[in-house]
Amino acid sequence: MSRLGTMDAIFPGAVRPMTQSSIRWRACFAALAAFAALAAFAALAACATPRVARDQAALAIVVGDGGPSSIADALARSGATVVRLDPSAEHADLASIVGSRAGRVAIVSEGPAARAAAKLALFRPPGVRVDAFVAVGGTYDALADDLGSMRAAPPAVLLLSPADGDPLQARTARGLARALEEKNAPHVEAHVAPKDADATALIAAFVAHGPTPQPLEGPWGVKQRWSSKRPPLDHDAFWSDERLVVTRPVDGAFHVALTQIFGDAMSELNPWPLQEYKALPLAAYLRSRDVGRGDHLVVTNIRGEQLYLTRAEIERDEPVIVIGIDDERNLHRLFTSYRLKRATSWKPDEGPMPTMIRPLGPFLFFPRGAPPELADTTLATFSLTPASFRFQAEDPVAIARRLSPELRATLLGADGCLKCHALRGAGAHAHHVRAIDGKAHGGFALGLDEYPRDVLRRFLFDQETVAAGFGVTPLRVPASAAEALYALVDAK
Ligand code: HEC
Repeated sequence: MSRLGTMDAIFPGAVRPMTQSSIRWRACFAALAAFAALAAFAALAACATPRVARDQAALAIVVGDGGPSSIADALARSGATVVRLDPSAEHADLASIVGSRAGRVAIVSEGPAARAAAKLALFRPPGVRVDAFVAVGGTYDALADDLGSMRAAPPAVLLLSPADGDPLQARTARGLARALEEKNAPHVEAHVAPKDADATALIAAFVAHGPTPQPLEGPWGVKQRWSSKRPPLDHDAFWSDERLVVTRPVDGAFHVALTQIFGDAMSELNPWPLQEYKALPLAAYLRSRDVGRGDHLVVTNIRGEQLYLTRAEIERDEPVIVIGIDDERNLHRLFTSYRLKRATSWKPDEGPMPTMIRPLGPFLFFPRGAPPELADTTLATFSLTPASFRFQAEDPVAIARRLSPELRATLLGADGCLKCHALRGAGAHAHHVRAIDGKAHGGFALGLDEYPRDVLRRFLFDQETVAAGFGVTPLRVPASAAEALYALVDAK
């Protein structure tokens, strides 16, 4: 199986996080059922007690008109006390609203007013309480450069930039977020908001309680973990010898490489200007390290997917390992995620697998375009680590090179099975990587000769059904190649 559909596989089933109010109502119903006979009155009283009285209602100061999605209404429904403030308000106005409040104070804004709101929140005088700043669809140019003049400690910050908005929003939000992190802000989140993602629960929780981890099955949980200051994976080790690093302008070929992994979610890249990239020329990098001997290089990524190159190809095509884009030095912060409906079609169905991460990570890039025989669509080129590279004397996939051109292409071509599966012990053992911690996770790609025959048969001859069962894009094998492959695997 390969090529997990980009968008549809990202959050299949659109599992939405429970909203605050649905959680509250579930609790009420459970309480009512339990105490129905004995203490219905007491249970009713518990439900009737407004949650806000227990939590001490947060004060949400909404700057501007709140925009079309009407954050103010949602906040009011979630129990916050909402006060509106004109974007032209000054710090004295803010101070008089906040007064000497003991409970949480948040400044919230959407659209063009967000910049003025950010100035109120960040540059307020000391002593004026603001715990959280939340903004949707703002543009913050130049604010990042002014942070030196902050007088009060920055609040926790949540910046959302709609995927279909001006990319400048996401770009300046990232700039402000990184600058705040450098000033040791207690918590900063900046996310591109996917088109249909509901942000009300995220925002309401941030206002009422501060930063709150969201479920990984929803649109925000993975973003919170992976676009943070310290995502589960880094590749600092690739930066250990900066003398090898070359800087090149982003061009069309580079965009095409990014499209391979981001597909129709290219707006996830809005936070980066995509002007230049930093890379290690592969030949020079390998010369600088102890990576074994021989003419055949095996490249294995964090999912166990493999590419097979020869020394001659490396010299001829001059691939590089991209390790930075613009000022971003951790390419695991650029990612997509997905969830499969199941792990195998032939073992007891254990239901959907956990949410998996597919980080861009360091990746192999052919600046002049990959030659046809090295073209790849499996994503084996992405998410590399310093342990990814190993030379060996024997051709690791010699078994496939002896076959007919069609079969060779099926096993080693752009979608080649041997990049993820083994055949008679030669090839890869691919798997997935969990979004929660960046660690390896099954389902594992078994050796093609290890599958029950009917499983392989279904895969080769009824691919649509198999792919639909997993929730991925089909990997179609031409009928003649499928016959030949089936016969090859069967011929022990
Ligand atoms: C990008 C990696 C990748 C490529 C390329 C790939 N597979 Fe897979 N395949 C997997 C993984 C991983 C699984 C395990 C199921 C899962 O978690 O997706 C799998 C599962 C399977 C299964 C078991 C499906 C089931 O019904 O449970 C078969 C059979 C299979 N692959 C055959 C092939 C063949 C044949 C090719 C080449 C035409 C191929 N695969 C190419 C990664 C890959």
